[in-house]
Amino acid sequence: MKFFIANIASVLFAVAVLASTIPGKHFVAESWGLEGFARDNPLGSTTGGNGGLTIVVADASGLQAAVKGNESKVVLVNGTITLSSRLRVGSNKSVIGINDTAHITGKGIDVADVTNVILQNLKISFVLDNDCITVRNSTRVWIDHNEFQSDIEHGPDFYDGQVDIVRASDWITVSWNYFHDHWKSSLVGNDDKFRDIDFGHFHITYHHNYWRNEGTRGPAGRFGHQHVYNNLYVDFHYQAIHSRSDNQMLVEGNVFRGATREALSTYGLVIPDDSPNTCVCGDQELDGYANLGAENDWGSATINISQTGNFSSAPYEYKLTPLALVQNVIELGAGVGKI
Ligand SMILES: *[C@@H]1O[C@H](CO)[C@@H](O)[C@H](O)[C@H]1NC(C)=O
Ligand SMILES: *[C@@H]1O[C@H](CO)[C@@H](O)[C@H](O)[C@H]1NC(C)=O
Ligand SMILES: *[C@@H]1O[C@H](CO)[C@@H](O)[C@H](O)[C@H]1NC(C)=O
Ligand SMILES: *[C@@H]1O[C@H](CO)[C@@H](O)[C@H](O)[C@H]1NC(C)=O
Ligand SMILES: *[C@@H]1O[C@H](CO)[C@@H](O)[C@H](O)[C@H]1NC(C)=O
Ligand SMILES: *[C@@H]1O[C@H](CO)[C@@H](O)[C@H](O)[C@H]1NC(C)=O
Ligand SMILES: *[C@@H]1O[C@H](CO)[C@@H](O)[C@H](O)[C@H]1NC(C)=O
Repeated sequence: MKFFIANIASVLFAVAVLASTIPGKHFVAESWGLEGFARDNPLGSTTGGNGGLTIVVADASGLQAAVKGNESKVVLVNGTITLSSRLRVGSNKSVIGINDTAHITGKGIDVADVTNVILQNLKISFVLDNDCITVRNSTRVWIDHNEFQSDIEHGPDFYDGQVDIVRASDWITVSWNYFHDHWKSSLVGNDDKFRDIDFGHFHITYHHNYWRNEGTRGPAGRFGHQHVYNNLYVDFHYQAIHSRSDNQMLVEGNVFRGATREALSTYGLVIPDDSPNTCVCGDQELDGYANLGAENDWGSATINISQTGNFSSAPYEYKLTPLALVQNVIELGAGVGKI
């Protein structure tokens, strides 16, 4: 108990000092490294290109060439790069924005059939015909301190996902990202027909992400395990956290502000606001499971849990931000230019 009080006091102090004098990046960089499933897993911690050469790229061909192969390499992105084809990142790579001006647009990024990739400090916006980032059949991936943006005026199906994770991918952490102005954010498991391949994978930690003016999937998971803690949702309009098709989620310490219809659901119904093209009544799948850990602040949103599951505590250590500080800490720390 003493430790708990001292801990809160020190975070309160840090936030107070931070707000007045110290820039946010010090607070965040010193306080948070990698945590969650990308760090603690049976395959080993995600290290990306650590130990390899560092190279700086400033155009599409340079970037495409730099991320090929499986050699360890740290690739720093300098400025705006407009991709004309998807960037396919090899194993053992870190792709990191040099500062808050690193920006990828045009096409998005595939992390496919590889292991050990870090994507950090990149703004990725207005990607058409596919996701901003797709993680497919890959393990040990850390997606951290990025910004994702498009618009919601074009409806749910004009853009695809922001970070979609499919085909039995595993041991992933999605942290401190700023997801905004987009409909379908983060889908885990993209089709019922891959149940046998996907089931029991998708161990993903989502923490300290900032979602603002989004439609659905924050995240939506099938078949796996996701730990969703300390995220901030502002005007996440229709349905934020969705656990379906026997998926297990542990949901704790999240904060909802503004207008959100449903913060959390385990019903198998894929709401029409999510996939209106399939049927105006939505699609029906099996229900998922959700367990609530530390208290959440649902704001004015509803929650609808049909069944609790067996993912009731995370199998690793992690720093839970006190609920009262979540909004402040995330507004200061999420997105690009903070590491
Ligand atoms: C990644 O790098 C490690 C260490 O150099 C190496 O053992 C491993 O084979 C590489 N991964 C792949 C998929 O090549
Ligand atoms: C790493 O890539 C090289 C060629 O780029 C290949 O020969 C080797 O088999 C790969 N190693 C692994 C473990 O995939
Ligand atoms: C990034 O590109 C700018 C030119 O656009 C150049 O002045 C600068 O030196 C580059 N930075 C690095 C680290 O290469
Ligand atoms: C970001 O880096 C570029 C290239 O080195 C430089 O021109 C620019 O001034 C930097 N911007 C900031 C905000 O540091
Ligand atoms: C998944 O990726 C591995 C390499 O990590 C590859 O050997 C395997 O064929 C891939 N599986 C599928 C279904 O693409
Ligand atoms: C829970 O969700 C189901 C399926 O969408 C719906 O039929 C039910 O009315 C909801 N219950 C509450 C209390 O929102
Ligand atoms: C947890 O529940 C799921 C769904 O019912 C089940 O498939 C899995 O075997 C259970 N795991 C454990 C460790 O009990």
